This record gives sequence, C-alpha cells and structure tokens, in this order.
Amino acid sequence: MAKKTAADSVKSALAGKPIGTTQGRPSALVDTRVIYCGDNLEQLQKLPENCVDLIYIDPPFNSNRNYEVFWGETKEKRSFDDRHASTKAYIEFMRPRCEELHRVLKKTGSFYYHCDWHASHYVKIMLDQIFGENQFQNEIVWRRHFSHNDPKKYGCVHDVIFYYVAGKPYIWNQQFVPHAESYIKSHYSSVDKDGRAYQLVSCSAPGEGPARKFGDKGIIKPPVGRHWSWAQEGVDELIAKGRITFTKTGMPRLIQYLDEMKGVPLQDSWDDIPPVNSQAMESLGYPTQKPIPLLERIINSSSNKNDIVLDAFCGCGTALVAAENLGRQWIGIDVSPTACRVMAKRMRDVCGVKEDDKLWRIGRGFVVRDLPWSEKKLRELPPFEFENWAVIALGGRPNKAQVGDMGIDGRIYPVSATPKKTEGELEFMDVWYPIQVKQKDRAGRPDIDSFEAVMMREDRQKGFFVSFDFSSDAMSEIQAFFKKTGKSIIALTVKDILEEQIAYKLA
Ligand SMILES: C[S@@+](CC[C@H](N)C(=O)[O-])C[C@H]1O[C@@H](n2cnc3c(N)ncnc32)[C@H](O)[C@@H]1O
Repeated sequence: MAKKTAADSVKSALAGKPIGTTQGRPSALVDTRVIYCGDNLEQLQKLPENCVDLIYIDPPFNSNRNYEVFWGETKEKRSFDDRHASTKAYIEFMRPRCEELHRVLKKTGSFYYHCDWHASHYVKIMLDQIFGENQFQNEIVWRRHFSHNDPKKYGCVHDVIFYYVAGKPYIWNQQFVPHAESYIKSHYSSVDKDGRAYQLVSCSAPGEGPARKFGDKGIIKPPVGRHWSWAQEGVDELIAKGRITFTKTGMPRLIQYLDEMKGVPLQDSWDDIPPVNSQAMESLGYPTQKPIPLLERIINSSSNKNDIVLDAFCGCGTALVAAENLGRQWIGIDVSPTACRVMAKRMRDVCGVKEDDKLWRIGRGFVVRDLPWSEKKLRELPPFEFENWAVIALGGRPNKAQVGDMGIDGRIYPVSATPKKTEGELEFMDVWYPIQVKQKDRAGRPDIDSFEAVMMREDRQKGFFVSFDFSSDAMSEIQAFFKKTGKSIIALTVKDILEEQIAYKLA
C-alpha cells in the first residue's frame, strides 16, 4: 500500500507539484485508480482544484454514520444517538462536501447527485447555491421499482439524480435508446425491395429559406415559413443516392431507414434500468448498491476515455467498476473500511485489476490508501466496522443481518465451495466455517465456551475466533475442545492479521 510519508511530501513540494502526484500517472495533477478510506471532506481537501472531469455521488440520507446505511438501517441492531436530527442537519453535512466537490471539478466537468424524495428539494436549492442555477441541467428521474406499497399515498418508486455542469463548454456525448416497439410498428411499416424498414419524413424545418433544385423535378420552393433541410449539394447527393421520393402533389420526402437510426435521444426519465436484483451476478448483497448500467450511462454521457471520474461516497464501488469498464480513470472515497475492502475485492474480481503498488506506479493496478491498518485505529472503529474488517481480512463474508446472527459474525467458504451466483447466493455446498470476532483485549474462556456452542449447533469442523489477545484459559479450552470433539478453533489475534501471519495458521 502506498503511504505518503513526510519525506514524500517534502519531495513533492521540492518538485513543485501538488502532493500526491506521481510521475508517469495519467493525470499530472492527481493520482488516479486510488480508493481513499476516510471522511471525504478531509480527503477532498487534499485534492487540487479543477482536477476531475466527472463526479457522481450517492450519499446516505440523514446519517453521518456510514455503516448503518451501507449495511441496511433496519437490520442494524445498534442504535445511534449521533444520527442527524433533521434534513437541515443533512444539508449542513453535505454543503461543505459539495463545495469541495465543486472546487475539484474541472470547468468542463459534470456533477451528478443521486438522492430521493427525502431531501431532493433541499438538495436542489443547496446545489443551485454552490454551482449556480444556470449550471443546472436536469433532474433525472430513475424509476427503481415497478411498484411500492406506501400506505395511504402514491407509491414512491423513483430516485432523483441532479445533473449540473461546472461551466461551458462541457463534455457531453448524446446517448440514444432504442425506439419503442409500438413506435417502430406505427412509423416504420414500409419495407423496401431489400427488406429494409423505412418511413418517409419531411425534408424541411421551421424558418424561411431559398428554393432548391430537386433533380428532374426541377426547382421547388419550401412550404411557407420553412426551409429545406440541406444546402444544394446535400439535396443533389440524396437525389443521386435515391433517398428522396415525391408525394402526389410533388413535395419531396426523405426515405429514412430504421437500421440507420441511432434510436431516440435519451430523455430525463429513465425506466429502462432495473435495480440490482439480489440474485443478479453483480449483486454484492448491499441494499444501497446501484446498478452498473446506470453508472455506465452517466459516465458515457459526461466523460471521454481516460477522463477522471470521482465518486466520493463510493460504497461498494459501482461507479469505479463502471469507470474502469469504460476505460476511464477513477478515484473513490469512502469512510467505511468495510466498503473499501469490498470494493477492492470487486475491482479485482470483476475488472481483473490487481491491487498492487508496483503495477499502480506504471499505470496498471490500483491502490487503497489510508485504511486503518494499525491496532490503535482498529480499536477506535465502531464494533460493527471492526467485525467486518476482521471477517473481510480473513477472506470471509460478513453477516449482513446483525440481528439474530446466532454468534456468527461471518463465514469462510473454502475455495472448493465457491458459490455459483447464478444458482442463488447461498445455493452451494454446505461447506463453511464460522468466524466470531470480539473487539476486546483478552478473549477468555467464556467467549470460547459460547463459540464452542455455535460450532456444535452448526456442526462445523473448524471455526475462527478473532480478538486482540487470548487468555491462557481460553487457549487451554480450545485444546480441550479439540481433544473432546475433534473440532478445531483457530485463535487469531489482530496482530496476526496485521502482520499477515494468518496464512500458516489457516493452513
Ligand atoms: C448509499 S452508499 C453508496 C452506494 C454506491 N453508490 C454503490 O453503488 O455501491 C453511501 C456510502 O457513503 C459512505 N459515506 C458516508 N459518509 C461518508 C463520508 N463522510 N465520507 C466518505 N464516505 C461516506 C458510506 O460508507 C456508504 O458506503
């Protein structure tokens, strides 16, 4: 992992470049293909101004505690007294972050803010103040559910995505969607001798203009108040190609083939992208995960190859994966170490990009920076984050539901039991090992006793127990349990994990 030392900072300063810049990287201003773990306000303040081309954010609503939203508020067993009290507090939380995002956005860049009815009206006013009302382009409505049962009111089925630009000109690539079947049927019912569907369309547009010569038909004036759509050379070319036909009254009509049409320019109401289905290949099982096609559409519209895409609330990294797929550079920020590990795994598994400092230096792999890799930082993590950190560090899958976890914080699936997603998330061989995590200094005999009960109940041969340390009683109990039942409990300390001493203990 690339850690910026004081010496690095001095070197960068002497080289006259902003800190964080590495020679040979795609941008002279900023490091890309980096996931930063930390509060985005702090992380953004380290970036220079005007350095990214496209920003997408999908912040959690009304919470500055990431994990309850990331993992699903309703399933989280703990209560949080520091939750934002109101929409006002949410806006106060978001305003300095959006100001920073506005600062780092290039003048040709675009900004997308994903939210829903809870706060959208307040968010719009805040963004108008930061970006300027004239920079507002669209309120995109993404229909994420077909129907929703909201008692005694209309079902809330859509999210809102506000689209702003930093200035003009800005990067814009018009996207198209296919024509509706009904439209094709009603408009392209004619078929030529080669079997190509076509329709006849007007050759003129509003506004006065001169007459043109239409081949053998001679000079024809456009209808009153209109002009022909092409200069004389354009008309000559279309006539030569046989693309103009004439009505009984002698008016020219253009033969427009369906197979030459790009489709309908994309509008601001999107109902053709379904949400991530829990059974889908891309599903990681997180309630806030957005579909990749949604992000691909945004990235295609508002950036070009090798442009820099920033997601400052990147969750399980959908925007980063979409950016990587489309040949863009990317920067991700998330305050949750769990989210950062999940997205690093996704980047490796889905995009085949290696998490490797050496490769990253030559513009290939990626790096995760600022993860809490010290015992001190791990002690300060909220318990839920700590559990996830340990489970993910062991290569396991954390429990998503914290209620009713029955003493299991995560499960390790041996390679031979890798789930086949197409068959459903948990439909694979019943081979897994439980993991229990205790964020305490000395796990004792009672902790081991209760884990033994879990191992017996679940009939598991092996289990993993993580803690900062174990008492000697705990270690003797583990040995006695093995003698009695043949079942092994592997005791792992945080130090083991940090020093990557776990490989031989897992063997
Ligand atoms: C709604 S999720 C984003 C989901 C993402 N769009 C995806 O498809 O996976 C919001 C994320 O914002 C992160 N977050 C919350 N507060 C943050 C902060 N102050 N700085 C950085 N990330 C934060 C949470 O950890 C969470 O992962």
